[in-house]
Amino acid sequence: MDLGLHGKKAIVTGASRGLGFATALQLAREGCDIVINSRSNSNLDAALEKISAGINVQIIPLTGDITYEGKAAEVIQKAADALGGIDILITNTGGPPTGSIENIDDQTWHEAVELNFLSHMRLIRAALPYLSVSDAASVLTITSMSVKQPVPNLLLSNSIRGATIGLTKTLALELGSEGIRFNTILPGFIRTERVLDLLAQRAEANSTTVDQEIAKQSKQSSIGRIGDPQEFANVATFLVSPAASYLTGGVFLVDGGMYKATY
Ligand SMILES: NC(=O)c1ccc[n+]([C@@H]2O[C@H](COP(=O)([O-])OP(=O)(O)OC[C@H]3O[C@@H](n4cnc5c(N)ncnc54)[C@H](OP(=O)(O)O)[C@@H]3O)[C@@H](O)[C@H]2O)c1
Repeated sequence: MDLGLHGKKAIVTGASRGLGFATALQLAREGCDIVINSRSNSNLDAALEKISAGINVQIIPLTGDITYEGKAAEVIQKAADALGGIDILITNTGGPPTGSIENIDDQTWHEAVELNFLSHMRLIRAALPYLSVSDAASVLTITSMSVKQPVPNLLLSNSIRGATIGLTKTLALELGSEGIRFNTILPGFIRTERVLDLLAQRAEANSTTVDQEIAKQSKQSSIGRIGDPQEFANVATFLVSPAASYLTGGVFLVDGGMYKATY
C-alpha cells in the first residue's frame, strides 16, 4: 500500500532515540522531509547519521528543550521555515520521573505537567497556522497506556497524560472541519532506553535482574513479549499518513495486548 507520504513535511519531537527516533526513521523511509528535535546536539547528530544512511530526503536536526515556554513555538517556527511548511506533527518528549505521593514535590509535579502536557499543547498551537494550509494535515500525540491502566510507580505519568488525551480528542472534534486529523498512541512496554531504565529500577527494588523484569513484564502481554520500536513506528507512520485519511480522534494502544479491559 502506498501511504502517500512521499514529499510530505514532518516534524517529530523527542526524536533522538526510542519511539520518536524509530518513527522519524520510518517517515524518512517513506519519503518525508523531516525535522527531528531533542535537547542534545550530539544525540541529534547521531540520530541524523543513522536516519540519513542511504535515504535521500531532507533531515534537519533542531535542538531545543520543548519543556520551556517559548521553546516549543520556536522549534515549530524554525521547522516550518526549514521545511517550507508542516503537514505532519508528532509530539513526543521524555517521560516523567518515578515516585510516590509522599516523595514527589510540587516543583516536580509542575515540571511533569510542562513536559507531558503543556509541551504537546504548545507545539500543536504553534503548528496550527501551517497545518491549516496543508492538504494532508495530521497530528499524533505520543502518550502512554498509563491513561487507561496505571503503571506501578509512575504516578506522574498516570495522572497527567490524561490531559493530553483530552486535548487531542477535543482538537479532533473541533478542527476536523479544517482538514486537520488528531490521533494519539498509547504505548505499552516498547524496548527503549526509557523502558529499560524503568525496568532497571524495578530490578533494583525487587533484587532481581533487568532480564527477569523483562520476562515478568512480557507475561503481561498476550503476545508474550515487550515490543520493538519498529512495531510502534509502523503504526505511528500509518496513522499520520494520507492512507489513514478517515481516522481522527482515535486513541490507539500499541501494547501487545497488555491492557486487559474490553474498552
Ligand atoms: N517506550 C514505551 O514503551 C513507552 C510506554 C509508555 C509511554 N512512553 C512515553 O513515550 C515517550 C517516548 O518514550 P521513549 O521510550 O522513546 O523515551 P526515551 O527513550 O526516554 O526517549 C525520549 C526522547 O525524547 C527526547 N527528550 C526528552 N525530553 C525532551 C525535551 N524536554 N525536549 C525535547 N526532547 C526531549 C530525548 O532526547 P534527548 O535526551 O536527546 O533530549 C529522546 O529522544 C515518553 O514520554 C515515554 O514516557 C513510552
